[in-house]
Amino acid sequence: MKEQLANIRAQAIRAMEQAQDTAALEALRVQYLGKKGALTAVLKRMGSLTAEERPAMGQLANEVRSALEEALEARSKKLEAQALEARLKAETLDVTIPGTPVALGHRHPMYIALDEIKDIFVGMGFEVLDGPEVELSYYNFDRLNAEADHPSRDWSDTFYFDADSRVMLRSQTSPMQVHAMEKKELPIRILAPGRVYRKDEVDATHSPMFHQVEGMVIDKGITMADLKGTLNAVMEQLFGPGTVTRFRPHHFPFTEPSCEMDVQCHKCGGEGCPTCKGEGWIEVLGAGMIHPSVLEMSGIDPNVYSGWAFGMGLERLAMRRFKITDLRLIFENDIRFLEQF
Ligand code: PHE
Repeated sequence: MKEQLANIRAQAIRAMEQAQDTAALEALRVQYLGKKGALTAVLKRMGSLTAEERPAMGQLANEVRSALEEALEARSKKLEAQALEARLKAETLDVTIPGTPVALGHRHPMYIALDEIKDIFVGMGFEVLDGPEVELSYYNFDRLNAEADHPSRDWSDTFYFDADSRVMLRSQTSPMQVHAMEKKELPIRILAPGRVYRKDEVDATHSPMFHQVEGMVIDKGITMADLKGTLNAVMEQLFGPGTVTRFRPHHFPFTEPSCEMDVQCHKCGGEGCPTCKGEGWIEVLGAGMIHPSVLEMSGIDPNVYSGWAFGMGLERLAMRRFKITDLRLIFENDIRFLEQF
């Protein structure tokens, strides 16, 4: 029995020292120390020994068990350390290797201009609003005081969705005036940029989809002087000090009096050139004092409150801002063009 124990010890330790992974090591533990293992089998036969032989053999068996457990533990630690080292080697990261360059996109010049415009107005206390591009003609026309036979209501000018001309792609951002009057507490100061749609052929200055920026102020004691002062300040911030503007009388159903504002041509400084079609000025917006009927329809008393509104053409402003001569360049999205701004 003594010899058997010595054999088990020698065999087991050799096998454990050679085990290549934790699974093999576990199999050895079961083989030698498990319930049906080699050592247990020897211990079971202790009963056949004499009372004198038993203690010494028991002690020897315990020594063998401890030796095997120690060998298991040592090998297991060694395998773990090897595994960790292998993993660290496989996962080394060289932080000095240059990264893969990512091609960044470029902001569109029109949105650069829009962000500048928003910043200027937000700085003056305006709130920026978003609104629907699919609009009821009720908001696009009726609530803006447009007569039943106003030419812009015509099918040849406007994209309608239904035969009764009830639902349409908005032809201006001005319906946002009405939405704001319906939803906001007075006084109101809003800016509402967005897309508008008209049945226009594409050329150097026209597109069936373009952008407007609507602005509106309603408070007590608001006058045309506030409108002109605000717009002149905005144009100087956008285009630089000394920017020249002019206001011409005009007609809109929802403002009275109404005007259009021009900015002096950046190409020729007012002399007249192809960019301004020989006129020396570029029209950038329509504006005016909000018509009393429009205020009344929205439940605002025109004897107490007054206000102004404007709608500017964003593409035209961006063209003036970045000295772009053809509207089509803004929509073609040629990267060689966009990257210049
Ligand atoms: N909505 C008008 C247009 O599209 C512009 C405008 C807005 C005029 C606000 C006056 C007041 O031409």
